Amino acid sequence: MRVLQVSAEIFPLLKTGGLADVAGALPGALAAVGCDVRVLLPGFAPILADLCTPTVLAELTAPWGEILVLRQGRLASLNVWAYVIDAPALYARPGSPYEDAQRHPYTDNDRRFALLGWVASRLASGLDAAWRPRVVHAHDWHAALTCAYMAFLPPQRERVACVYTVHNLAYQGLFAPRHFFELGLPAAAFAMDGLEFHGQMSFMKAGLFYADHITTVSPSYAREIRTPEQGCGLDGLLRTRADDLTGILNGVDEAIWDPAHDPVIAAPFEAANPAGKACCKAALQQELGLVVQADAPLFGIVSRLTEQKGLHLVLAVLDELLARGGQLVVLGAGDAALELAFAERAAASPSSIAVRVGYDESYAHQIFAATDVTLVPSRFEPCGLTQMYGLKYGSLPLVHRVGGLADTVVDCSLEDLAEETANGFVFEHFDSHALSRALARAFALYALPAQWRLVQERAMHQNLGWPRAAAQYLALYQRLCH
Ligand code: ADP
Ligand code: GLC
Repeated sequence: MRVLQVSAEIFPLLKTGGLADVAGALPGALAAVGCDVRVLLPGFAPILADLCTPTVLAELTAPWGEILVLRQGRLASLNVWAYVIDAPALYARPGSPYEDAQRHPYTDNDRRFALLGWVASRLASGLDAAWRPRVVHAHDWHAALTCAYMAFLPPQRERVACVYTVHNLAYQGLFAPRHFFELGLPAAAFAMDGLEFHGQMSFMKAGLFYADHITTVSPSYAREIRTPEQGCGLDGLLRTRADDLTGILNGVDEAIWDPAHDPVIAAPFEAANPAGKACCKAALQQELGLVVQADAPLFGIVSRLTEQKGLHLVLAVLDELLARGGQLVVLGAGDAALELAFAERAAASPSSIAVRVGYDESYAHQIFAATDVTLVPSRFEPCGLTQMYGLKYGSLPLVHRVGGLADTVVDCSLEDLAEETANGFVFEHFDSHALSRALARAFALYALPAQWRLVQERAMHQNLGWPRAAAQYLALYQRLCH
C-alpha cells in the first residue's frame, strides 16, 4: 500500500503543536503495518536541511506562474522518504510557518499552502514515474486543497484515493474570493457544493467536501463536529458526510515519550519502579525555586496559551490550588493576555508557581516527568496529546470531558476506582466550579498514597501506542482502494 502523507509540520523538524507529533509518528507506524509511506512537505529551512543527498524530481510552474523545484530524498531524522517543495520566496522565512513576527498570518498563505495541495495532486497523477501513491492522506487545512485538486484530475487508469484528517476544525484557512482565481482550480469549485464558505474560499471545506473519506483524531470529536455547537459552521456538511467520517484516536510515539528511556529527565522510571519520578520532581522544584517538598501535589501545564485550552479556568481556581498546598508549573506561549496573567501569578507566589513563556521540547518532558497532575481543561480538544503524555509519565490528567480527552481519561469516581478503570480526573461542565470539584478529587486521592499509586500505575500501563491507530488507517486505505 503506497501512501503519501501531506502535512505542513513534522516532528522533530518543525512543530507548532500536536499536528507535528502525529505527522512525525504516523509514517513509522504505517510502515510497521506494511505500508510504503512517503511524505510531502513545504521546503521550510529545517526540512530542507534534513534531506539526505537530495535529487531534483521536477521543476514545476505553479498555477500562478511561480517556479519551484521538487526535491526528493530521505529525511535523516525520520528515516522516511520525502518530497520537499523548494520555493524560497514562499517558505524561507524564520519563525512560525504560518505567521510573521507580529503574529499576523502571512498574506500569501493561500499560495503557500495551495502549492502543497497542488504538488500532492501532481504526485497522485504520476509525476514520479518510479512511485505513484494509491492513497494521498492530507492533514489539516494547510494540506486540504489536495482533495480539491485531486477531484479535478483527468480520469486515471488506477484511481488514487484521498483521505483528509481534521486535526482542528477551528483553524479553517479562509481567504478572500479574489485569491481563488489564481490557484488553478475550475470556477465550478467556488460554489456551495465546493470550497465556497459564506462568500470566502475555505481550504478546510475543500478537504471536507472533496475527500473520499474524512477522519478526525478521536471518536468523540467525530461526533461533536456534527453538532452546531462544535461544528464551526461546517456541521451541516459534516452531517451529510457522516458515512464518510471516522474518528481514529491518535497514539503516543513511544520512541520519544517513554520515562524509562528519556534522556532529558533527571532519572528514569517506570510503572513497576516509580522511584525515579520523585527524583524528577525534587530536581524540578529545586531548579525552579519552588519549595522542595515531596508531598506537595505538583500540577503541570504544557500548552499553547489560547482560548481553546480553557486555561482561564485554571487562573480562577489557582488560589484554591495554593490554599490546598499545591504547586503549579506552566510552560506555554501564545495569547499575550494569558502569558501575562500566568507570569503575574508566578511573580506573586514564586515558591509555589513557576511559569515559563516560550517553547521548549526538553522542558516539556521534564514537566510531565516531575508533576503529579497534568491539567488539560480545554473548552474543546480534537484529541489532545498532553493528557496522554501525562498518563505515560504517571502525571494523572485532570481534564474537561470533551473530544479526545473524554476518550482517554476516566474519572476517579468511587465506582471507577472500584472497577479499576480510573486513571485521572474529569469534569463535565465547562466552568470553574466543576474544575474546582475535580481539583478537590485530585487532592483527596493524593491524600491516599496507596490508592494514588494504584491509579498512577494503571495510567502508565494504558495502551496508547500507535499500532492500534495505524491498523485502523490501513483498514480504511484498503477499503478505499477496492
Ligand atoms: P495542540 O496541537 O492543540 O496544541 P496537543 O495536545 O495535541 O495540542 O499537542 C501539543 C503538543 O505541543 C504536545 O507535544 C506538547 O507537548 C507540545 N507543546 C505545547 N506547548 C509547548 C511548549 N510551550 N513547549 C514545548 N512543547 C509544547
Ligand atoms: C490539533 C488538536 C489536538 C490534537 C492535534 C493532533 O492541534 O488541537 O487536539 O491532538 O491536532 O491531532
